[in-house]
Amino acid sequence: MDGVIWDWASFALRWLHVVTVIAWIGSSFYFVMVDLGLRPALNAPKGVGGETWQVHGGGFYHLQKYLVAPEGMPKELTWFKWESYGTWLSGFFLMCVVYYVGADLYLIDRAVLDVPHWAAIVISLATLASGWIVYDLICKSPVGEDTAKLAVAVYVLLVVEAFALTHLFSGRGAFVHIGAIVATIMTANVFLIIIPNQKKVVASLLRGEAPDPALGKQAKQRSNHNNYLTLPVVFLMLSGHYPLAFATRFNWVIVALVILIGGVIRHFFNTMHQHKPAPWWTWGVATALFLLVVWLSSFPAVSTQARAASLAPTPKVAAAMASPHFAAARDVVVAHCSMCHAQEPVWEGLAAPPKGVVLNEDRAIAAQAGLIELQAVRTNAMPPRGVAHIVNLADDDRRLLAAWIATIPAVR
Ligand code: HEC
Repeated sequence: MDGVIWDWASFALRWLHVVTVIAWIGSSFYFVMVDLGLRPALNAPKGVGGETWQVHGGGFYHLQKYLVAPEGMPKELTWFKWESYGTWLSGFFLMCVVYYVGADLYLIDRAVLDVPHWAAIVISLATLASGWIVYDLICKSPVGEDTAKLAVAVYVLLVVEAFALTHLFSGRGAFVHIGAIVATIMTANVFLIIIPNQKKVVASLLRGEAPDPALGKQAKQRSNHNNYLTLPVVFLMLSGHYPLAFATRFNWVIVALVILIGGVIRHFFNTMHQHKPAPWWTWGVATALFLLVVWLSSFPAVSTQARAASLAPTPKVAAAMASPHFAAARDVVVAHCSMCHAQEPVWEGLAAPPKGVVLNEDRAIAAQAGLIELQAVRTNAMPPRGVAHIVNLADDDRRLLAAWIATIPAVR
């Protein structure tokens, strides 16, 4: 039953996470667009720096932006923060369910760094916290006063982190962590800089004082970073489904290129929203870099099989292999799954094992008992239904798998 509960917890959190992301990124892209499209305001109240007209859903909207703040506090004020906090919280709990509970499968690569669960989780939390601390220090240092220098410094920081993480975790675990570090920076920008600065502005308005323009400037800088970092984060969060991105030799270089691709694409839209001539060159650069990513992904990962095989199996895996039903179950898996789920699949048209799932030798099969149960015992998702006329699992075969799984402790 354990597997069922964790799988539904993961689905529910993913559902929530995607919804909060839509709300956050939707409103954030919208406000960046409004901001960039502002035109000088005629006959506007004092303090208005620009205005814009929009039409949507059957009505016209006339938006005016006060550069620092209006003279007095408006009666009602809508804040945008829970979209961001909800995204971070749902994402963090989703990461706990997928990568901490399933650390053996998704986070740890014992051939890269052989650490127990708890240590992997400590490293994970430390990278999230330190990513923000270093970024914030860079922004507040003299480098932070020059936009171009700051962009280069933050970029170098992220690439160094990508290199380090791919040498601490599995490729998949590393990619989600780089995404999570950037996402933590983005939410911390909202939680620790943007919202507190806005609160200070509101407090000075309530006191009838003129707010400090530096507060708004700093908030704008961080909001601008969030804007440019959004597309790379979305790529990193989706990358877990694409082993060619995360499980090939130059995976960290791929991250470095994807940050640039996301950045230039944002630049295209940001420039368009300013009603300036479209910088079409950005699509040329993005396409060239993307083709470079595709080419880099054709270099297989350096084989760590020998090192992985030399390590003693974890107690859970050893228990799964010691089961008296293991041999029969393994034969079923090898006969019905390994033509696709191998480092070099023999199934025509498959360049790599689907989802990176390899099921062609004892230890890999034992380690993935929970996944096998989910895909081929509790459900009939595998082998894929479309090829059931060629490779199918008879009910007897599924019963052999079930008999094995019933004898081992929850692996997932
Ligand atoms: C004909 C090729 C083929 C065979 C045979 C096959 N699979 Fe798969 N498997 C796939 C493909 C393709 C995917 C990716 C599906 C997707 O994109 O959602 C996959 C995905 C998976 C996943 C990962 C699911 C996820 O979403 O993370 C597991 C686990 C899995 N298969 C187990 C098995 C088991 C167990 C068997 C044997 C009983 C099996 N597969 C047989 C092609 C195959």
